[in-house]
Amino acid sequence: MSIALLTRLPAAEAARWRGLLEEALGEAIPAKPDPATVDIALVANPPAGSFEALPNLKFIQSLWAGVDSLLADASRPRNVPLARLIDPAMADTMAEAVAAYVLDLHRQGPLYRQQQAKRVWKQHLQPRPAERRIGILGMGAMGQRSAEVLRALGFTVSGWSRTGATVEGVTMQAGDDGLEALLTDTDILVNLLPLTKETRGLLDRLLFGQLPRGASVINFARGGHLVAADLLAALDDGHLDHAVLDVFETEPLPADDPLWRHAKVTLLPHVAASTDPRTAAAFVAANVRAWRAGEPVKGLVAAERGY
Ligand code: NAP
Ligand code: GLV
Repeated sequence: MSIALLTRLPAAEAARWRGLLEEALGEAIPAKPDPATVDIALVANPPAGSFEALPNLKFIQSLWAGVDSLLADASRPRNVPLARLIDPAMADTMAEAVAAYVLDLHRQGPLYRQQQAKRVWKQHLQPRPAERRIGILGMGAMGQRSAEVLRALGFTVSGWSRTGATVEGVTMQAGDDGLEALLTDTDILVNLLPLTKETRGLLDRLLFGQLPRGASVINFARGGHLVAADLLAALDDGHLDHAVLDVFETEPLPADDPLWRHAKVTLLPHVAASTDPRTAAAFVAANVRAWRAGEPVKGLVAAERGY
């Protein structure tokens, strides 16, 4: 049996992945395997219909943390287990990105950059980190590490998850009531949820209305969480102060999208926490070995839950 690497990554990037995965696995990943022999697929944004050609597939390992597009792929065999990527180095990178943009908002970066553009010398009161309430939606691998780093910086952190399981030093919430409680107590909202049927469109007019006036929003999860028109309305009417967006329903974001030129939007090209094959390969290899040995694999996705 053999392993297939299914990806639409540029050729050089795919070749780098292949080399690092082969090294971690200690075996070759054929560039053009006989489809009938493929029992394991390692996938990053696979070409449409990739799975249809693999009749003996037994295990799918995602090279990305988010598996929303894989779950939506009609060609994915429903009876084949799918594991997402859990790479502590990726969670560190996400926490670094969250800290960078929370600190920028906390230190009033957007306001001072606007003042600089107009050569305005004006000082504003600077709250302490403990006076700034950060609400994190999604307290999994990415959310928990981000909360840890934000707490170390002195911020007051709340989190929202499906189960509301305890996270040290974080006020945890769950359910609709818990979400409302978190939102009313949040100055900077950070979205790190998986995109599922429950979470699609969650960042909408209703949710923004539950945040205090002057709050800001960071979306580092998926574009499908955000109702962009509702965000633009909340920024324009002054209810929200600023938004930092890394992910979009259509990527690359079309050149004529109003988000590009909005003064209250900081826009990033899906770079909050890109997978680093140097660290991810070790997780992938360990999961492949576990699956082959009949041992539990990590990050197994529950399709009905959506993550
Ligand atoms: P994860 O470990 O699976 O954590 C998901 C978290 O979301 C869990 O805390 C889960 O609750 C919570 N959740 C799921 N559905 C919920 C619901 N309906 N209501 C409330 N909470 C819910 O995922 P992760 O590794 O942290 O990654 C999260 C997402 O980040 C990915 O799916 C991906 O979309 C995004 N991401 C983006 C980038 C980037 O570069 N922009 C990079 C990596 C990942 P429980 O704890 O109760 O299960
Ligand atoms: C990136 O967005 C990922 O889900 O890994």
